[in-house]
Amino acid sequence: MFKLNENYLKLPGSYLFSTIGKKVNAYSAAHPDKRIIRLGIGDVTQPLAPAIIEALHRAVDEMGHAETFHGYAPDLGYEFLRDTIAENDYRARGCDISPDEIFVSDGAKCDSSNIQEIFGLDNKIAVCDPVYPVYVDSNVMAGRTGTYDKNTETWSDVIYMPCTAANGFAPELPKETPDLIYLCFPNNPTGATVTKAQLQEWVDYANKVGAVIIYDAAYEAYISDADVPHSIYECQGAQTCAIELRSFSKNAGFTGVRLGFTVIPKELKCGDVMLHSLWARRHGTKYNGAPYIVQRAGEAVYSEAGKEQLKQQVAYYMKNASYIYNGLKEAGFTVSGGVNAPYIWLKTPGSMTSWEFFDMLLENVNVVGTPGSGFGPSGEGYFRLTAFGSYENTVEAVDRIRTLKL
Ligand SMILES: Cc1ncc(COP(=O)(O)O)c(C=O)c1O
Repeated sequence: MFKLNENYLKLPGSYLFSTIGKKVNAYSAAHPDKRIIRLGIGDVTQPLAPAIIEALHRAVDEMGHAETFHGYAPDLGYEFLRDTIAENDYRARGCDISPDEIFVSDGAKCDSSNIQEIFGLDNKIAVCDPVYPVYVDSNVMAGRTGTYDKNTETWSDVIYMPCTAANGFAPELPKETPDLIYLCFPNNPTGATVTKAQLQEWVDYANKVGAVIIYDAAYEAYISDADVPHSIYECQGAQTCAIELRSFSKNAGFTGVRLGFTVIPKELKCGDVMLHSLWARRHGTKYNGAPYIVQRAGEAVYSEAGKEQLKQQVAYYMKNASYIYNGLKEAGFTVSGGVNAPYIWLKTPGSMTSWEFFDMLLENVNVVGTPGSGFGPSGEGYFRLTAFGSYENTVEAVDRIRTLKL
């Protein structure tokens, strides 16, 4: 008789965004005349930039001719893309990362959930609270998190690092020593960032205690402040303690196209064993690679035209971010994020819970956001709005929120 992976049964409740979806659908069915504005889910809305569309068309045409047809992709990804990434994302920033330390993938969700596989089950993970849920849930599925406490909404074997207003939404070094540390900056959901000096402290700490930092830099394109690092490899010593995850979803609108990559420096070792070798083995065995067409589209992200067009796309979303940030601040809300990140993290008014605020916004002004408590207990009393909507919808949503008497 077959047996289940019972770890899956330990996962609490339904996924945050499916609960939101159900509530919005129910409201919409009961009030078909209302125009709901969605600033909840972190999906982009602008079309792919022309340079990317042109690259996609060219690559599609290549696939139609025997001489230029491409079958299975190389395990790590095409060299043309890995070379471009190494040059633009790393060498141009003074980071010593070579193309063969880059693994092309179909995105950071898969990489951030799969990476735990190359570590033993007895590793202890540390996560920020609130946190992108994938880091914790993938470790739950693997059986690394112990038991769930419904009251505190925490796992017994996970180290939580609260990110609150008191610490500027940047975690402090944990009291208990972790083996794997998940960090994400600019942060989803809080929109917070850390300076290079702050990140250096984490790198020094990880090297000292022998931990690995899994650094999710999916939102690095939104950084505008000079002292905020784009890559963890800008810090001294990161090569021996850090894995970096990147995505093309938010910098280039690839949420429906799918492309990302993971960097594992060859210096990152456990004894004599390179983590790079384990991930290469996993990639070769369990993954077919991102499509040739998509990798060519990814290459176009780094072309002169692509860079210019994407700079404008990021600026478009950041104009939304600043409209939300300033509009809500003027209206008396306590807001953070939204400067180097496309997320605005706002304190719910009075003693309202995150879900009470969600319901109130949906019912009174037909605006959808994401309850902060869905990202972890320290997110209670907070609410996330994304800058990924259209400018017109963003303006209308903020103006509607401002009419509320709170
Ligand atoms: C922190 C973080 N990492 C990763 C992802 C997923 O990226 P991708 O679309 O490349 O899977 C998201 C998506 O919202 C995210 O917020």
